[in-house]
Amino acid sequence: MDNVILIGFMGSGKTTVGLRLSYRLRMPVIDTDKEIEKEQKRTISEIFAQEGEARFRDMETDCLKRLLDNPGGRIISVGGGLPLREENRALLHRLGQVFYLKAEAGTIYERVKHDTTRPLLQCDDPLGRIRDMLADRDGIYRQAADRVIEVDDRDFGQILDEIADSLAEAEKRREL
Ligand code: S3P
Repeated sequence: MDNVILIGFMGSGKTTVGLRLSYRLRMPVIDTDKEIEKEQKRTISEIFAQEGEARFRDMETDCLKRLLDNPGGRIISVGGGLPLREENRALLHRLGQVFYLKAEAGTIYERVKHDTTRPLLQCDDPLGRIRDMLADRDGIYRQAADRVIEVDDRDFGQILDEIADSLAEAEKRREL
């Protein structure tokens, strides 16, 4: 399918890049966390507290399967942990082109340090937690992605240009 998919760690900018890309490419944008919250009628924090992380991961897989039944042509930003499951990585590839927004731990920490909506970062040492999780996840994100987009020290214009150029190149290759 021809969706544009944004993956990456919490705070890497998936939601903002998704929104801006949506204006630029005139494509609707959806976010798997928001889809799950709508469907469950509760927040991600409530789902983690009431059902646990494993059950939330099942909800993410169900969400991707539902998206496969929908028409493409959307921008889909996905929760930071969604690509961890191999099954989900395969579903992402079927859904469209996958871009990994890659950020350093320090950049992420600055963006999320006052945030209380991400249960996995509510701990005494969020920066240490981010470093550890990023070390575990970076290789997985790369494996899931068609293209890695560096986001540290870059403004949104540059990030959007790189994604739009990559999509245009892929389109050209398809036409050949
Ligand atoms: C998570 C990322 C969050 C949300 C949940 C778990 C993760 O999404 O799905 O808190 O495991 O990285 P964002 O990446 O949109 O913050």
